[in-house]
Amino acid sequence: MSAQTRLKVFVTRRLPQEGMELLQQSAGCTVSVWDSDEPVPRAELLKGVEGAHGLLCLLSDRIDTEVLDAAGPNLKVISTLSVGFDHLAIDEVKKRGIRVGYTPDVLTDATAELTVALLLATARRLPEGIQEVQSGGWSTWKPLWLCGYGLSGSTVGVIGLGRIGLAIARRLMPFGVKRLLYSGRQPKPQAQEVDGEYVPLDTLLSESDFVVVSCALTPDTQGLCNKAFFSKMKKTAVFINTSRGAVVNQEDLFEALSTGQIAAAGLDVTTPEPLPTDHPLLTLNNCVVLPHIGSATYSTRGIMAQLSANNLLAGLSGDAMASELKM
Ligand code: NDP
Ligand code: DGY
Repeated sequence: MSAQTRLKVFVTRRLPQEGMELLQQSAGCTVSVWDSDEPVPRAELLKGVEGAHGLLCLLSDRIDTEVLDAAGPNLKVISTLSVGFDHLAIDEVKKRGIRVGYTPDVLTDATAELTVALLLATARRLPEGIQEVQSGGWSTWKPLWLCGYGLSGSTVGVIGLGRIGLAIARRLMPFGVKRLLYSGRQPKPQAQEVDGEYVPLDTLLSESDFVVVSCALTPDTQGLCNKAFFSKMKKTAVFINTSRGAVVNQEDLFEALSTGQIAAAGLDVTTPEPLPTDHPLLTLNNCVVLPHIGSATYSTRGIMAQLSANNLLAGLSGDAMASELKM
């Protein structure tokens, strides 16, 4: 195949080897990669996509009209190394007939596991405890020192009982959770598996000891967790978000945490990412912030890379993708 007939692919980041190998072995494509662990600068992204037939991107790349225009009419497939697709201008992508591949399911277990770890770390104050040991603040065993909140006998509320939300619920139930409430756009038959009760959001907020956000970021969920939201939660409740930072109004969360409106929060996602080191949330002992590591296990990231490369190649060949976003 001549260089002229090969399809042009732009990859916005160095990928785990499992994905790179598949792309490099593909005889029909000329692949250029932003060969770095750091995000591609906007100007390089706009240059790199020029004339591309396929784009493999990450959640940190904003794929908007400007990028689509820079790519031009050749662009047929976008494959994202993520299950979330809020970084893609979906309406515009759809209008242009571009197919989208993404990575559902393969990261569900890793993300659910991390959410449970974050919930326990936040509720049982693990970062504070570690800090006290290291700083010499541990003087003796004291009855109420570093007490937190346990899952046994608790009510857990999950906002968005999708693939990951359900996997979180499945993992939490064996800790002795008494009631599992969930809210979302409609009741889910699969909730039976965890004895989940579908309730209005206000009921979930007022009755839950743990509120876990696992919904997609959409215009409806943007800023959902605001002052009114936190004011409906119990003062002893723990808030966990592993979905997207923009679901939370961080000023309102800071106020809720610093005034004792809620007990604690654990966030794997923030706005912006990275969260500046002088951000007010990082001054609070009752806020645990992680650097968006929900799916970060070696095997999960390898499988995500493989899936996103295969989605891209299948889309370019006009074949069915293993995971294509239905738009
Ligand atoms: P799913 O699509 O399976 O689940 C999303 C859920 O959100 C669905 O149950 C959906 O309900 C629900 N939802 C949509 N709109 C609303 C709303 N207005 N109110 C309440 N619920 C709503 O996706 P996944 O479970 O696979 O992933 C969920 C999200 O997790 C991703 O979009 C991504 O942002 C995030 N994520 C974060 C990771 C991390 O590293 N921290 C890793 C992986 C994912 P319905 O079915 O009724 O539409
Ligand atoms: C996703 O896939 O949407 C996560 O945020 C990263 O794995």
